[in-house]
Amino acid sequence: MISKETIDKVFELARVEEVIADFVVLKKSGANYKGLSPFTNEKTPSFIVSPAKQIWKDFSSGKGGNVIAFLMEHEHFNYPESIKYIANKYNIEIVETNNFPENIEKKNEIESLFIINKFAVSSFKENLNKEVSDSLEYLMNRGLSKKIIDDFDLGFCLPNRSSFYQSAKTKGFKDSYLEKTGLIIFNEEKVIDRFRDRVIFPIKSLSGRVLGFGGRTTISSKKTAKYINSPESEIYNKSKILYGIYESRQSIVKDDLCILVEGYMDVLQFHENGIKNVLASSGTSLTEDQITLISRLTSNIVLLFDGDTAGVNAALRSTDMILEKGLNVKICSFPEGEDPDSYVKDNKKDKTLDFINNNSKDFIEFKLSFYNEDLKDEDKKVDVIKSVIKSISKIPDRLKQEVYIKKCSQIIDIDESTLFNSLNSTEKNNSRITRNRRISKNNDLSIVKKEKNIKPHNYFYELEKQIITILLKYGENEITYEDTILSHSENGDIKEEKKNIKSKVFEKIFLDLQQDEIELAHPPFQKIYKKLIELYNNQNKFVFEKFVNELDSDLSKIASDILIFDEKYSLHDWEKRNIYVKKIGSELSQLVNETLLNMRRYLIDERIKKLQEINIDKNKDELLQEVMRYSRLKKVLSSKLNRVV
Ligand code: GTP
Ligand code: MN
Repeated sequence: MISKETIDKVFELARVEEVIADFVVLKKSGANYKGLSPFTNEKTPSFIVSPAKQIWKDFSSGKGGNVIAFLMEHEHFNYPESIKYIANKYNIEIVETNNFPENIEKKNEIESLFIINKFAVSSFKENLNKEVSDSLEYLMNRGLSKKIIDDFDLGFCLPNRSSFYQSAKTKGFKDSYLEKTGLIIFNEEKVIDRFRDRVIFPIKSLSGRVLGFGGRTTISSKKTAKYINSPESEIYNKSKILYGIYESRQSIVKDDLCILVEGYMDVLQFHENGIKNVLASSGTSLTEDQITLISRLTSNIVLLFDGDTAGVNAALRSTDMILEKGLNVKICSFPEGEDPDSYVKDNKKDKTLDFINNNSKDFIEFKLSFYNEDLKDEDKKVDVIKSVIKSISKIPDRLKQEVYIKKCSQIIDIDESTLFNSLNSTEKNNSRITRNRRISKNNDLSIVKKEKNIKPHNYFYELEKQIITILLKYGENEITYEDTILSHSENGDIKEEKKNIKSKVFEKIFLDLQQDEIELAHPPFQKIYKKLIELYNNQNKFVFEKFVNELDSDLSKIASDILIFDEKYSLHDWEKRNIYVKKIGSELSQLVNETLLNMRRYLIDERIKKLQEINIDKNKDELLQEVMRYSRLKKVLSSKLNRVV
């Protein structure tokens, strides 16, 4: 742990305007400084730094805070990394406390590996620029400029058996550490540079530390592998890294989109041509950790891959994983014989972006077009639909699921309710599988905990969240719905009359819930609900910032999360967005109705269950009648929802 004294010193000496000036061009403006937001692509400056208050505020993205918050947002450092960064900048000695000896040793080891890697980068870079090899020529022939070669710290490891080792020894690095970085192979009596005679691609972390290397041979020969990578180590874990994350991170945030490719050269060639929001999984299939890493920067991913079968299968696997993490994914395949590298080299930036825009499909379109032939065969068609439903079932957000079900229903012309049924049973299956896994490993607590995290909430929680989401996003929208009005006719009979009623969404929800005496069960939602209804009732215009500021911090986080997540989703410049917005717009009233009906149906289910549990207290007949009454009600509701009981 970093000592309190060090932290105090950091806060004492750090000047927010000085730290930020290393990343943003700031101009004096009255008592403050002003600059272009580093988080968006704005043209007029709305990024303000206040030296007096030692804070910053970015009006275009809404972000703001103190100097640490800036480093965490901009550099994606965590707290200790930010403190250390400032300590370094101001030459403050970092004193650490509470370190057990073995921790210090481990830490020293890790630090040593980083130091060696840093040395290796500079040594390999030097080699590239010496004219002893044609490695620089190789890279330039592939279309890379000196600038990109430099930005990515590309290098070259000399062909002699161990010249890197020799130069590392002159620096006094320990053999055991050199071996752990994987740069050197100690083989019986021999010592060999792993990457000898290869062009070097340093692989960095989000904060720019060099974790490991990729090396490409410049000779086309079948004898040697085209690429080799660092072996796994304390700092290099291939399932957790993405090539280009350091160089592309800002653009991914700004564009709110991550383009995912397969190879080093794809990333470099895209950067060369001005497309900078790109990462590579470097030949391995995408992992959960990699998706988590991306999710720190954006929730939108486009997968680019070569059109061969291996590529398609990998893309399909990745798709489900991305959906499961709650991110949005599109898939774009390149023409036969092309990869992103060759395409952008020939067609340049604009045409490549056009190509990606025009050929990106969401997972439903992608699966359906990939299995196009199968859709003509009735038996196979079922399998294709099942596979699409399976993907939909991975999406944690119920609203999104509904949007996709509707889309799927339109494309393949199958009833929505049939698809919903299939979705429900797939979800049941999913949770059964999870449950079984949980039971079989129930002595491993960490796994139980992890799986609980994935689906922490029950169906009612999701319904309540949906109510809040609808209220937050569409509370003031007007909807028209059909209602049955009961009135007395002249002869005293009761008359049923269907009428179209207009009301605001929040009024409809409030009145319906009140009429049914339904109360939200989860305290955070209860509070947000109460506040929202109050606000809508008293205010003409709903101002989100005002609303959030009046909530406690955890409530405001829940509300922001709901809105921010959906906002990103619906504001993003994908055609999906049109579908989403259009659907919600024209079918808002249906959405409100279905959510309320679902809620009632759920509560009735619960009621029936309870009644069946009670036995003796009540007269059996009476009880039976009550159960039957509820069951009838449930049937009515279900038929309104088009679902089988
Ligand atoms: P270039 O041939 O240099 O254009 O590379 P590429 O990026 O087009 O390579 P390819 O599409 O063949 O492979 C994509 C990625 O898979 C590469 O960037 C490497 O990360 C990885 N890869 C390719 N070949 C090998 C190999 O022989 N061994 C290992 N370990 N990885 C490889
Ligand atoms: Mn290539």
